[in-house]
Amino acid sequence: MRFIVVHMEQRLYKWALLEYEHLSELVGKEKLLFTNLTKTQATALSAYGKTTTQPIEKILLSKPCLLDPNADKTLTPEDAKQFSDFVFGGILGDYPPQKRTLELAKLLPSAPRRNLGRAQMSTDTAVFATKRICDGIPLEKLIFQDNFVIFMADKMEMILPYRYLIDGGKVVFSAKLMNYLKKKKGF
Ligand SMILES: C[S@@+](CC[C@H](N)C(=O)[O-])C[C@H]1O[C@@H](n2cnc3c(N)ncnc32)[C@H](O)[C@@H]1O
Repeated sequence: MRFIVVHMEQRLYKWALLEYEHLSELVGKEKLLFTNLTKTQATALSAYGKTTTQPIEKILLSKPCLLDPNADKTLTPEDAKQFSDFVFGGILGDYPPQKRTLELAKLLPSAPRRNLGRAQMSTDTAVFATKRICDGIPLEKLIFQDNFVIFMADKMEMILPYRYLIDGGKVVFSAKLMNYLKKKKGF
Protein backbone atom coordinates (compact mmCIF):
# COMPACT_ATOMS: atom_id res chain seq x y z
CA MET A 1 0.00 0.00 0.00
CA ARG A 2 1.27 3.44 -0.95
CA PHE A 3 -0.08 6.91 -0.21
CA ILE A 4 0.72 9.42 -2.93
CA VAL A 5 0.33 13.14 -2.27
CA VAL A 6 0.26 15.25 -5.42
CA HIS A 7 1.48 18.68 -4.39
CA MET A 8 -0.80 21.09 -6.23
CA GLU A 9 0.09 24.43 -4.66
CA GLN A 10 2.64 26.67 -6.39
CA ARG A 11 4.59 27.17 -3.21
CA LEU A 12 5.29 24.84 -0.32
CA TYR A 13 3.52 26.87 2.35
CA LYS A 14 4.54 26.28 5.96
CA TRP A 15 0.97 25.09 6.64
CA ALA A 16 1.25 22.42 3.92
CA LEU A 17 4.75 21.43 5.05
CA LEU A 18 3.52 20.84 8.60
CA GLU A 19 0.52 18.83 7.35
CA TYR A 20 2.87 16.68 5.26
CA GLU A 21 5.19 16.15 8.22
CA HIS A 22 2.17 15.16 10.31
CA LEU A 23 0.78 12.70 7.79
CA SER A 24 4.22 11.12 7.53
CA GLU A 25 4.16 10.58 11.31
CA LEU A 26 0.64 9.13 11.04
CA VAL A 27 1.17 6.58 8.27
CA GLY A 28 4.96 6.16 8.11
CA LYS A 29 7.42 7.73 5.66
CA GLU A 30 8.14 4.42 3.93
CA LYS A 31 4.55 4.34 2.63
CA LEU A 32 4.56 7.91 1.30
CA LEU A 33 5.39 9.49 -2.04
CA PHE A 34 5.16 13.23 -2.72
CA THR A 35 4.99 14.20 -6.41
CA ASN A 36 4.87 17.36 -8.56
CA LEU A 37 7.58 19.07 -6.54
CA THR A 38 10.29 21.51 -7.46
CA LYS A 39 13.80 20.37 -6.57
CA THR A 40 13.85 22.62 -3.51
CA GLN A 41 10.47 21.30 -2.35
CA ALA A 42 11.66 17.72 -2.87
CA THR A 43 14.67 18.39 -0.65
CA ALA A 44 12.48 19.97 2.03
CA LEU A 45 10.13 16.96 2.06
CA SER A 46 12.72 14.19 1.77
CA ALA A 47 12.67 13.60 5.53
CA TYR A 48 8.96 12.72 5.38
CA GLY A 49 8.72 10.26 2.48
CA LYS A 50 9.95 9.55 -1.03
CA THR A 51 9.84 12.60 -3.24
CA THR A 52 9.87 13.28 -6.96
CA THR A 53 9.77 16.27 -9.27
CA GLN A 54 7.81 14.18 -11.78
CA PRO A 55 4.17 15.02 -12.41
CA ILE A 56 1.66 12.39 -11.31
CA GLU A 57 0.83 11.48 -14.93
CA LYS A 58 4.42 10.23 -15.35
CA ILE A 59 4.40 7.98 -12.28
CA LEU A 60 3.81 4.28 -12.81
CA LEU A 61 0.80 3.61 -10.62
CA SER A 62 -0.31 0.25 -9.34
CA LYS A 63 -4.08 -0.19 -8.95
CA PRO A 64 -4.65 3.49 -8.11
CA CYS A 65 -7.59 5.05 -6.28
CA LEU A 66 -8.06 8.82 -6.22
CA LEU A 67 -9.58 10.18 -3.03
CA ASP A 68 -12.02 12.91 -4.00
CA PRO A 69 -14.85 14.41 -1.91
CA ASN A 70 -16.89 14.70 -5.12
CA ALA A 71 -16.63 11.02 -6.07
CA ASP A 72 -19.90 9.09 -6.21
CA LYS A 73 -18.71 6.04 -4.23
CA THR A 74 -17.46 5.92 -0.65
CA LEU A 75 -14.29 3.93 0.13
CA THR A 76 -15.03 0.84 2.24
CA PRO A 77 -12.58 -1.68 3.77
CA GLU A 78 -13.68 -4.37 1.29
CA ASP A 79 -13.42 -2.04 -1.69
CA ALA A 80 -10.00 -0.75 -0.54
CA LYS A 81 -8.50 -4.25 -0.94
CA GLN A 82 -8.51 -3.91 -4.74
CA PHE A 83 -6.25 -0.80 -4.66
CA SER A 84 -2.52 -0.39 -4.02
CA ASP A 85 -1.88 3.31 -4.61
CA PHE A 86 -4.10 5.87 -2.85
CA VAL A 87 -3.73 9.30 -4.43
CA PHE A 88 -4.54 12.60 -2.67
CA GLY A 89 -4.45 16.24 -3.65
CA GLY A 90 -1.75 18.12 -1.79
CA ILE A 91 -4.16 21.03 -1.64
CA LEU A 92 -4.72 23.37 1.27
CA GLY A 93 -8.33 23.51 2.41
CA ASP A 94 -10.44 26.32 1.09
CA TYR A 95 -13.90 27.53 1.94
CA PRO A 96 -16.16 27.17 0.08
CA PRO A 97 -14.31 24.22 -1.49
CA GLN A 98 -12.97 25.02 -4.98
CA LYS A 99 -13.22 21.36 -6.09
CA ARG A 100 -9.56 21.40 -7.12
CA THR A 101 -9.34 17.64 -6.69
CA LEU A 102 -11.24 17.53 -9.99
CA GLU A 103 -8.13 18.99 -11.68
CA LEU A 104 -6.26 15.97 -10.37
CA ALA A 105 -9.01 13.63 -11.61
CA LYS A 106 -8.51 15.02 -15.12
CA LEU A 107 -4.82 14.05 -14.92
CA LEU A 108 -5.75 10.49 -13.91
CA PRO A 109 -8.86 9.81 -16.00
CA SER A 110 -8.71 6.03 -15.62
CA ALA A 111 -8.23 5.97 -11.83
CA PRO A 112 -11.37 5.05 -9.89
CA ARG A 113 -12.42 7.81 -7.47
CA ARG A 114 -13.73 7.33 -3.95
CA ASN A 115 -14.97 9.74 -1.29
CA LEU A 116 -14.58 9.70 2.49
CA GLY A 117 -17.93 11.41 2.88
CA ARG A 118 -18.71 14.81 1.44
CA ALA A 119 -17.10 17.04 4.07
CA GLN A 120 -13.73 18.54 3.24
CA MET A 121 -10.88 17.05 5.28
CA SER A 122 -7.35 18.35 5.52
CA THR A 123 -4.93 16.25 3.44
CA ASP A 124 -3.37 14.66 6.55
CA THR A 125 -6.84 13.75 7.86
CA ALA A 126 -7.86 12.24 4.50
CA VAL A 127 -4.67 10.13 4.36
CA PHE A 128 -5.10 8.93 7.95
CA ALA A 129 -8.82 8.16 7.47
CA THR A 130 -7.94 6.15 4.33
CA LYS A 131 -5.30 4.22 6.29
CA ARG A 132 -7.91 3.41 8.94
CA ILE A 133 -10.36 2.19 6.29
CA CYS A 134 -7.61 0.03 4.73
CA ASP A 135 -6.99 -1.36 8.24
CA GLY A 136 -10.62 -2.55 8.22
CA ILE A 137 -12.51 0.22 10.02
CA PRO A 138 -15.48 1.50 7.97
CA LEU A 139 -15.97 5.26 7.59
CA GLU A 140 -19.14 5.20 9.69
CA LYS A 141 -17.17 3.81 12.65
CA LEU A 142 -14.61 6.62 12.50
CA ILE A 143 -15.33 9.62 14.71
CA PHE A 144 -14.88 13.09 13.27
CA GLN A 145 -15.12 16.67 14.40
CA ASP A 146 -16.10 19.48 12.07
CA ASN A 147 -15.02 23.10 12.52
CA PHE A 148 -11.92 22.80 14.67
CA VAL A 149 -11.33 25.91 16.80
CA ILE A 150 -7.84 27.23 17.55
CA PHE A 151 -7.46 29.73 20.37
CA MET A 152 -4.93 32.31 19.28
CA ALA A 153 -2.33 34.09 21.42
CA ASP A 154 -4.27 37.39 21.07
CA LYS A 155 -7.44 35.75 22.49
CA MET A 156 -9.00 35.57 19.03
CA GLU A 157 -10.41 32.28 17.75
CA MET A 158 -9.61 30.72 14.40
CA ILE A 159 -12.21 28.30 13.11
CA LEU A 160 -10.92 25.77 10.61
CA PRO A 161 -14.02 24.76 8.59
CA TYR A 162 -12.76 21.26 7.86
CA ARG A 163 -13.31 17.73 9.15
CA TYR A 164 -10.78 16.16 11.49
CA LEU A 165 -10.50 12.67 12.96
CA ILE A 166 -10.87 12.04 16.67
CA ASP A 167 -8.63 9.35 18.08
CA GLY A 168 -8.41 8.41 21.76
CA GLY A 169 -10.83 11.26 22.57
CA LYS A 170 -8.56 13.90 20.97
CA VAL A 171 -8.66 15.66 17.63
CA VAL A 172 -5.83 14.39 15.44
CA PHE A 173 -4.10 17.67 14.62
CA SER A 174 -0.42 18.49 14.16
CA ALA A 175 0.96 20.05 17.37
CA LYS A 176 3.49 21.99 15.26
CA LEU A 177 0.76 23.35 13.00
CA MET A 178 -1.27 24.34 16.05
CA ASN A 179 1.70 26.32 17.45
CA TYR A 180 2.35 27.92 14.08
CA LEU A 181 -1.28 29.03 13.68
CA LYS A 182 -1.50 30.31 17.24
CA LYS A 183 1.43 32.65 16.63
CA LYS A 184 0.52 33.65 13.10
CA LYS A 185 -0.73 37.20 12.53
CA GLY A 186 -3.16 37.64 9.65
CA PHE A 187 -3.92 35.33 6.72
C1 LIG B 1 -8.04 19.91 1.73
S1 LIG B 1 -8.55 18.69 0.58
C2 LIG B 1 -8.72 19.74 -0.83
C3 LIG B 1 -10.10 19.90 -1.17
C4 LIG B 1 -10.23 20.99 -2.24
N1 LIG B 1 -10.60 22.22 -1.60
C5 LIG B 1 -11.25 20.52 -3.19
O1 LIG B 1 -12.30 21.08 -3.19
O2 LIG B 1 -10.99 19.55 -3.93
C6 LIG B 1 -7.05 17.84 0.17
C7 LIG B 1 -7.22 16.44 -0.37
O3 LIG B 1 -7.71 15.58 0.66
C8 LIG B 1 -8.54 14.56 0.10
N2 LIG B 1 -9.87 14.71 0.70
C9 LIG B 1 -10.29 15.66 1.57
N3 LIG B 1 -11.56 15.44 1.94
C10 LIG B 1 -11.96 14.32 1.32
C11 LIG B 1 -13.18 13.57 1.30
N4 LIG B 1 -14.24 13.94 2.01
N5 LIG B 1 -13.24 12.47 0.51
C12 LIG B 1 -12.16 12.08 -0.23
N6 LIG B 1 -10.98 12.74 -0.24
C13 LIG B 1 -10.88 13.85 0.52
C14 LIG B 1 -8.56 14.78 -1.40
O4 LIG B 1 -7.60 13.94 -2.03
C15 LIG B 1 -8.18 16.26 -1.52
O5 LIG B 1 -7.59 16.57 -2.76
